[in-house]
Amino acid sequence: MKIVRTIDEIRNQVKSWRKEGLTVGFVPTMGYLHEGHASLIRKSSEQNDRTVVSVFVNPMQFGVNEDLDSYPRDIEHDSEVVEESGGDIIFNPEPEEMYKSGFSSFVDMTVLTEELCGLSRPVHFRGVCTVVTKLFNIVKPDRAYFGQKDAQQLAVIKHMVSDLNMDIEIIGCPIVREESGLAKSSRNTYLSDKERESALILSKTIFMGMDMVRNGEKDCKKILDAMKKNIESEPLAKIDYVKIVDLNTMQQIDTLDRPALCAMAVYIGKTRLIDNFFTEQV
Ligand code: PAF
Repeated sequence: MKIVRTIDEIRNQVKSWRKEGLTVGFVPTMGYLHEGHASLIRKSSEQNDRTVVSVFVNPMQFGVNEDLDSYPRDIEHDSEVVEESGGDIIFNPEPEEMYKSGFSSFVDMTVLTEELCGLSRPVHFRGVCTVVTKLFNIVKPDRAYFGQKDAQQLAVIKHMVSDLNMDIEIIGCPIVREESGLAKSSRNTYLSDKERESALILSKTIFMGMDMVRNGEKDCKKILDAMKKNIESEPLAKIDYVKIVDLNTMQQIDTLDRPALCAMAVYIGKTRLIDNFFTEQV
């Protein structure tokens, strides 16, 4: 698998594909790739002639007390996953390549980011929007692929692309779960065996919420109370948030009378995990 580290190299590669008339798909990641990423890469390679995967742990989207330094990294393993999933090249820049000294321009979004992860992680989406804009400008793909596990991120990126007239199709792909139900995440690697067991409370609670919606419950408070009670029954779990929001505005709603997102962030020990479902998909 070809790994390039500079902006010039990846640009030249994409330019030469463009000259041949090839389409380009893009999967932005922070590495430590798992089956969720592999599903995005596979989708991209089905829909495009060439697929670029970026592996870049973006310092700008981490808050001061977050896990930037301990975020797992394994480029050799990533390279195997990209190869097996049909990707063509990895763009793996150093932070200094992405953020030259004097860097001072940011992409900030004033809607969609006040609730959920935006509330708990105030600098997060500014960092995500800025780096994704940079990556889009560098790679210039036809299509870009994002997982639905980061549902708010997906909504934010779609909105940004529309607001800023970026000529890129954004494709959201379903959550990939382990057999146990646990949503795949690079952060699962932080969990001890005991914590991994406890972490099942997230997916169990998601499935429980889905059942309530499937059975016709429309009262968000009833759904959320039942979900919170379930999470609180797990001693190692500490709720950051469990909320139901309008899918288009990411603002909390009381009644399920429109397309909505039910999303949670829960600490299992020190590890913050997220999971969600779209009420329209149950
Ligand atoms: O979802 C992620 O892994 C990151 O937020 C992204 C989109 C690669 C930007 O750093």
